[in-house]
Amino acid sequence: MSLVIRPEKTADRAAIHDITQRAFAPMDYAGGNEQDLIDRFRDAGALAISLVAELDGALVGQVTFTEAFAADGSPGWYTLGPVAVEPDLQAQHIGSRLIEAGLAMLRERDAAGCVLTGDPAYYSRFGFRIFSDLCPEGEPAAYYQMLPLRVAVPQAVVAFHPLFYGPS
Ligand SMILES: CC(C)(COP(=O)(O)OP(=O)(O)OC[C@H]1O[C@@H](n2cnc3c(N)ncnc32)[C@H](O)[C@@H]1OP(=O)(O)O)[C@@H](O)C(=O)NCCC(=O)NCCS
Repeated sequence: MSLVIRPEKTADRAAIHDITQRAFAPMDYAGGNEQDLIDRFRDAGALAISLVAELDGALVGQVTFTEAFAADGSPGWYTLGPVAVEPDLQAQHIGSRLIEAGLAMLRERDAAGCVLTGDPAYYSRFGFRIFSDLCPEGEPAAYYQMLPLRVAVPQAVVAFHPLFYGPS
């Protein structure tokens, strides 16, 4: 299969919205607004990285990274998510390819690290670890994970972009 990972283009926006909506729809943990979040970040100029997966010319997945904010003011933190893959094509490593490509871009930017809320059974394969002590208020401590990159050991709470919690 010929899978290409590349930055999103304007023409991809409707397909990203559609795939994200359909991928999250059956998930009991979904907020139901994941597809709108991506649009909200884009409209606010807060989409730090948006990569899509293209399979034989068709868009089949997308991953979003946004800026995150360390309580100690240290720069270079990012949040991973949402990430979604076309339901019929899941568990074929498309999501992994998207995530690995995004993390490679963060390393190139000399990012401090990346945070997310998600299933540790999945994200541990990329090096994410639970950091309950540093979980921001309102996030589930059992699912809050950090991937230190430039920073060896995270010291501060790293909060998600405020747009995760609603329009500004
Ligand atoms: C989560 C998601 C992006 C992963 O992409 P994917 O292409 O399906 O996953 P991959 O093929 O890269 O993952 C490969 C492995 O992860 C496993 N896996 C996938 N989702 C998992 C999950 N939620 N929990 C645990 N393992 C998971 C697969 O079984 C597979 O295991 P293997 O390598 O041992 O065979 C995709 O399944 C999806 O769109 N899910 C619905 C939306 C969603 O839940 N997004 C993430 C919210 S935190």
